[in-house]
Amino acid sequence: MSDATAPQAQTGGALLTVEKLERHFEGLKAVDGISFTVGPHEVVSIIGPNGSGKTTTLNLVTGTIPANGGTITLDGADIGHADTARIAEDGVARTFQNGRVFATLSVADNIEVGIHSTLRASRPFRRLSRMFLLRWIPLLAELYIAIIGTPASRRERREIDATISAEIERFEARLGPRRDDPAYSLSYANRRRTEIARALALKPKLLVLDEPTAGMNQSETAEVLRQLLELKAEGQAILLVEHKLDLVMSVSDRVIVMDGGRIIAQGRPEQVRRDPAVIEAYLGRRRGLGGEDLV
Ligand SMILES: Nc1ncnc2c1ncn2[C@@H]1O[C@H](COP(=O)(O)OP(=O)(O)OP(=O)(O)O)[C@@H](O)[C@H]1O
Ligand SMILES: [Mg+2]
Repeated sequence: MSDATAPQAQTGGALLTVEKLERHFEGLKAVDGISFTVGPHEVVSIIGPNGSGKTTTLNLVTGTIPANGGTITLDGADIGHADTARIAEDGVARTFQNGRVFATLSVADNIEVGIHSTLRASRPFRRLSRMFLLRWIPLLAELYIAIIGTPASRRERREIDATISAEIERFEARLGPRRDDPAYSLSYANRRRTEIARALALKPKLLVLDEPTAGMNQSETAEVLRQLLELKAEGQAILLVEHKLDLVMSVSDRVIVMDGGRIIAQGRPEQVRRDPAVIEAYLGRRRGLGGEDLV
């Protein structure tokens, strides 16, 4: 049986370490003192009933909202108080539960938005943009380079184009013919693929996905599973929230089960599947995830 409170064996070499993380909304403890890790090449999934705190956990890890307590470290560095841009630069890329793409931008431009924060040659002095009084310096430099260009910025431009093409190629049959189409003209599944491609273009140390198959049919879900397995084979660390248990059980090295803002179980998929606390959380309340039987 898994032990929800035991520290994970791989904490020492963990990529992401979350300790006693807390977030409340006017008295509601959405995330109530949870601790977990994600190893450098590990796929960890968070499952749990609606409202159990999964998305809030991802929002905290990616800096979308601040925590009320606890610590978050990435590669040993404290990111608990960093903003989303810094966390993205540090190597955490995410997608959103409801899907977020820029409707009027093309597929390629949507992917490029994901890389912008990592540009070096095209964005000199970019660290100054965090200083209110000096923000004009990087803005002017960026404008100058955009108009005139430098050998380094032109080289970077070629690298960006290669990254965009590589990510589109990952979804070739789907996104290839739609590279220059505006996102609003895409199918729902292709918008979600574009969002995943944007996150991957950042070449993140940790890919954070919130219900990437929500709203997808069975064959589209199977396609996402294949792509996740490919990423896993490439060594990509993933923190995944997903309701479709078949997918979770197929792709995850470890599964964390949340209920009421707490972790009630964590362990290997087959351990979690048989954990009485997990069965109680779903079946005891007659609410299996996606109607699936956990036992
Ligand atoms: N911005 C917010 N303001 C107030 N309450 C919030 C906010 N965000 C989340 N909550 C509440 O926190 C709890 C956890 O929400 P969260 O979105 O993390 O759940 P979830 O596990 O992702 O659920 P689902 O499976 O439905 O996506 C819920 O009770 C939710 O209503
Ligand atoms: Mg959610």
